[in-house]
Amino acid sequence: MTQDELKQAVAQAAADYVAANAPAGSIIGVGTGSTANFFIDALAPLKDRYKGAVASSEATRKRLEGHGIPVLDLNDVDDIPVYVDGADEVDAGLNMIKGGGGALTREKIVAAVAGTFVCIADGSKLVDVMGRFPLPVEVIPMARAHVARELARLGGKPVLRTGFVTDNGNLILDVGGLSISDPKALETQINQIVGVVTNGLFAVRPADVLLLGTSEGVRRIG
Ligand code: A5P
Repeated sequence: MTQDELKQAVAQAAADYVAANAPAGSIIGVGTGSTANFFIDALAPLKDRYKGAVASSEATRKRLEGHGIPVLDLNDVDDIPVYVDGADEVDAGLNMIKGGGGALTREKIVAAVAGTFVCIADGSKLVDVMGRFPLPVEVIPMARAHVARELARLGGKPVLRTGFVTDNGNLILDVGGLSISDPKALETQINQIVGVVTNGLFAVRPADVLLLGTSEGVRRIG
């Protein structure tokens, strides 16, 4: 199977999970990226079952609306039973690195509201120790150099993502050179640096369920 076929398989499994676990009339949280895009396409035929969706990025909002799925403002929503999103890396504890598409902050906000976080990924994303994928950190533009120095003090090699501005008007530093043995501690430590909006470690609030696409089928963990 190609990587896209694996992503499509987990996206369909996630749509089935949502149909079985999110009550009719509820609002679905929808992530960002190529795997999340396949999920949006798989959700579309069931759209009349749901009130609508909350989007974790402008790109996702546009794709949802393109399918005729109503997109709600998170401030008008009390309850998101299920949030479905991809990951750049995920470990056996369902901690993740996210933000390869730059949507990490809105993704973390939607995840904070969601009852159940379902991570969808092809098998290449499952790792023993996270950090090979450079950790995205969203920063306020005037704090870029300060945050980069602080990240270097933690042993990282921050690189500015060139030509990229987040949906929130901020910058991304991609931090290489990290071997992340304690994801929760590092997530908390980086978020303490003044000027950081948030970082792409999702360990304080990890996924609850991982749907992993393998050539033997979709594996469910959690
Ligand atoms: C978006 O900012 C990211 O967190 C994505 O969820 C992550 O990069 C996975 O993207 P793909 O599904 O395209 O690999």
